[in-house]
Formats: sequence, structure tokens, C-alpha cells
Amino acid sequence: MCGIVGYVGRRQVAEVLLESLRCLEYRGYDSAGMAVINSKGVEVHKRVGKLNALADAIKRHPIIGHVGVGHTRWATHGEPTELNAHPHTDCTGDLAIVHNGIIENYAELKERLVGRGHTFKSQTDTEVIAHLIEERLKRHPMGEAFRLALKELRGSYAVCLLSAHEPRRLFGARSGSPLIVGVGKGEAFFASDVPAVLARTRRVLYLNDEEVVVLSAEGPKVMTLEGQAVTRRPSTVNWNIAAARKGGFAHFMLKEIHEQPRTVEQTLFNRLSVERRQIAFDRHTQTFLNRLSVQEKLVIIACGTAYHAGLVGQYMLEEFARLPVDVDLASEFRYRGPMLDKHTTVLAITQSGETADTLAGIRLAKEQGAKVLAICNVVGSSIAREADAVLYTHAGPEIAVASTKAYTAQLTALALLTLYLAKRRRGVGPARWRELVEELARLPQIIEQTLRIEPAVKLVAEQYASPRNFYFLGRRYNFPSALEGALKLKEVCPLIHAEGYAAGEMKHGPISLIHNGWPIVFVATHSPVYDKIISNIEEVRARKGECVVIASDGDARIKRYADSLLTVPQTSEFLSPIVVAIPLQLFAYYVAGANGCDIDQPPNLAKSVTVE
Ligand code: G6P
Repeated sequence: MCGIVGYVGRRQVAEVLLESLRCLEYRGYDSAGMAVINSKGVEVHKRVGKLNALADAIKRHPIIGHVGVGHTRWATHGEPTELNAHPHTDCTGDLAIVHNGIIENYAELKERLVGRGHTFKSQTDTEVIAHLIEERLKRHPMGEAFRLALKELRGSYAVCLLSAHEPRRLFGARSGSPLIVGVGKGEAFFASDVPAVLARTRRVLYLNDEEVVVLSAEGPKVMTLEGQAVTRRPSTVNWNIAAARKGGFAHFMLKEIHEQPRTVEQTLFNRLSVERRQIAFDRHTQTFLNRLSVQEKLVIIACGTAYHAGLVGQYMLEEFARLPVDVDLASEFRYRGPMLDKHTTVLAITQSGETADTLAGIRLAKEQGAKVLAICNVVGSSIAREADAVLYTHAGPEIAVASTKAYTAQLTALALLTLYLAKRRRGVGPARWRELVEELARLPQIIEQTLRIEPAVKLVAEQYASPRNFYFLGRRYNFPSALEGALKLKEVCPLIHAEGYAAGEMKHGPISLIHNGWPIVFVATHSPVYDKIISNIEEVRARKGECVVIASDGDARIKRYADSLLTVPQTSEFLSPIVVAIPLQLFAYYVAGANGCDIDQPPNLAKSVTVE
């Protein structure tokens, strides 16, 4: 959702900005632009559509300069037009600003500024920031004008400002939306996310909310919104640009699906020791978990795919750790008046660590005295920093909008958490505990083996490329798998309506639509409700629905119930959602491919939803 970049240094800035913006394409956008400072003043170029349109425009009319800002916009206020694309300028054209977030009081600010004679060109909330700074510049120097203007904003923002008044500097700030600083040798960067700077530097400074940065080629000067200097040293990112590139795969989604044996291994790394029969985390997380192990309740909050991971986590934690768990969509949780106190722990699950609803949820939880644990992929993200403890998934950068490896990493982290707590809460006997730990340790190999069904999934997916409606059904641990399978398909193939349901719920509605040829994907791996799933399949077949069944290897009985059968290695039900995620992800990928969809950047979707 909106990508911001900024550069100060020796290189030709247009090239650097385009390269950085390409690394943020995964966030989703519908227009792009950049502003550069040179002898002509502030030069702005914008285009609707993909970055190539902007790159072509710049090729035709090259812009020279060494300081600039760039932006990919995901429309919120005003349609995706060139006028609404960022950067936005003030009346003089000396200031150009890029923004990610939503300015809630923009209408009243705009009215006031129009009253003072300012002329607006766009319908965006962002443009008010440029005019506010212009207004403040009448009485204050540049840096102060920037800071004072920001203090008038309500809502969320990450902003970068280019100013003809300070041609060798950029100004940036964040409050509620992500912004990082990349520190190179004789050059410095702003970006919404780390991949945008990785080609040039691995030294990154994560900003906190309400911090302002003055950026020059010598590096950043950080201060609070009140103008007080802040000392912070950059940290070194431990993954490189290769991890953020496609590596020979046709799409990031496919690459990320194939990375799962390794990413799951990374989630388990240093935490699981079969020999010592031990699960351990870093000391701080462990102290936090020991406290949680005597608590009475856990509330999981998350959005999208991470919410589905949370639903699986509920089955895991209740069955084996005997810990009561509620799972909430973060967007509902924050408005339903949840009853929390110091005896409740809130677990936020998030890939990006920046999802606005999840962030607001943890803030609410903390206000009410609850402790917050996060399962998060992005080190240094807002949620990781605000949580009391973090269990990082270490899945590396996830670029495709549809989450795959982050999901299985979240499930793996939940399995670790469950087994850690299960031991302390005596939720499961030692022999069973050991079996589960041993199986968890084998998970990378099991996933490797599961990936071998890719050609079979491709064949089935191509066979089902034309239907426009799908159901995905499962029970217990694999009810969330059904939700996730449906979400994957509708995310990457917007031509298709896919719905996930608990198979037992089918008779309360969905069954009425099933008729000749309606495709239903069943997750029917071994479980205590296997026979019940078979009955559900029978009900569908009686109505001539077409059953694509995902079952366990060696299940001879299932064959006669399936129009198309995909089998995965046998595992405990506890780990089965991780394994069945693979064919579900591949199925969505290949159906979308057969339909010619834009798999990595589906229209209207954003990787990181930093607005409400
Ligand atoms: C967006 C993404 C999804 C993701 C969800 C939650 O909708 O497209 O893939 O599951 O946000 O994101 P988070 O970063 O909090 O896991």
C-alpha cells in the first residue's frame, strides 16, 4: 500500500528512485511519480498505471539531479489519475511531498488553506501537507516549518519532502505508517520497506512514530516531533537483495511457495532440539512465555491470511496447551469493546508488522493493561517494536501480495509456541509431546516431499481453470485451511469467486448452490473427523458437484469419492494445515496462471495494508 522512496547522494537520482520503487511494487499501486531537484527547481513526473509508464516518460525526458523522492500510490482519496498521483506540490512548486497513510482532518485543513488563498490541484488528502508547510514557511525555517505542519495532522502518515529551499536535503517523518532510513557511504535513502534500499546498503535505521528526520548524503539527523534530538544507530539487515529477487521463478509467489522447506527450517532454527527434547526461545521471549503459561486466556488478533493462521493456532493451543483462546479479526476486535486486563495476553500475528488494524488492536490491548506477544516476520516493524515480546518467523522478505511462506512460518511458530506451553501446562503426555516435537523437526523434509505434487496440482488446476465459483471445505484444523485456500484463489485470480466453509456448515446454506459441475475443494487428510468429511463429500456428489480432494498419501478409501485426487504426506492433524497449504497455494497459482492473471500484484490488493 503506497510505497515511498527518497535519495540523497552522488548517483543520478531518477535511476535510483525507479529501482527502489520496483522493489516496493509488491505493496500494490495504481500510479507512480517522482520529484527531483536540479537547476530548474523541483521537477515532477507522474504516470497512471505501472512503473514502466513512468520509466518510459523519464526515458523520453530525462531528469538530471542527485536528490529526489518517489512514490507508488494505492488510491484512497480520489481516483488513480495523474493529478492525484504523488508527489504533490504547494502553490509555489518549490515543495514536493510523497505520503503513505490517511490524513483524517484533511477536509478541515483544506478549507482553512483555501480560505487563505491556496489553490489545490488534486482530490487527495496528501496535498494539504504541502500547502501547510508552505504556510509555515512564511515564518519559520524549512526544518521547523516541516515539523510544525506535521503537528497539525491527525491520522497516519509516512512522508518525505523535497524542497527547493534546502536542495541538498530531504525531510521525512512517520506516525502510524512505515518509513525507514538506509544509510550508505556518502548517500542515504528513505523507503517504506527494507527491500527498496538493499541493493545499495544493508544498514538501516527504523524510525519510531512521531520522529522526524533531516536526511543528507552524510546521513540522517533524527529528532522528535517536538524538535528534540534522538540518538539511534542503524542496524544491519541480515538478508540481502538476492532474497528479494525472483531467482529464476516466473513469479514471486511460486518462488515463495518453493522456499517453504527452508523458511520453515528458519522458523525452527535454534528453537527446537529433538536430542535435548527441548523448545527454547531467546531469553526475553521465554520469560514472557513463562508468564503466559500460567495465564488464563489468550486472544489472537490478525488480518487476512494471518487471521487464518490464528484460527489454526486456536485448535493447536486449546488441544495441546489447554489454554482458552479467542481469535478475532483485528478490524473487529478494535471496535467491539473487548474485555481485557492484565491477566489477558493478546497475540498479534502479522507478516509485515505494519497492518493498521492489527497495530491499533495491540495499542488498545496495551491501554487496557494486557500484555502483547507478536508473531511477526519483519524485524523492526511497528508491531514488532510495540509488542512486549516477539516471536520472529524469519521467513525472509515476502514479496508476492498473496501470502504463502509467511503463512506456513506463522503456523510453524504457533506449533512451537503450543508445544512450549503444552509442556509447562501439562496439556499433553510426555510420549505424545515427543512424537509431535519429532514430527515438527521433520517438517522441512515433509514440505519438500509435498512440493513434489506440483505437476499433479498444475494438471488439476488447468482442468478447473474455467469455473467462476468454487467452494473450499474442511473441518477442525483444516477448516481454516479451507478459508485460506479460498482466499488464495480469490486473491490471485480476481475473476473467480471462492468461498471457504466449515464442511459441517455446508448444509446450512452453501449446499443450495451446488449443481452439476460446481467445483468443491475438500481437505480430507487423516483426522478424527475423517468419516464426517467423507459424508460431506457424499452430499456434494449426490448433487453432482465436482470434488477435488486433498487427502493423505496411502488413503485407498478416498479414491472413489474424488473426481480429482491430490495426496500429501501423512502427518498428525496438528501439522496437517502446514502441509495442505502447499497444494492449496499451488492450485490458486496455476488456476490464476491459466486465466492470465497478474499473480504477484493482483488488482486492488496491497501487500501491506497500512490504512484502516
Ligand atoms: C494484506 C495482504 C495479506 C495479509 C494481510 C495481513 O491483505 O495482502 O496477504 O495476510 O494483509 O497482513 P499482515 O502483514 O498483518 O500479515
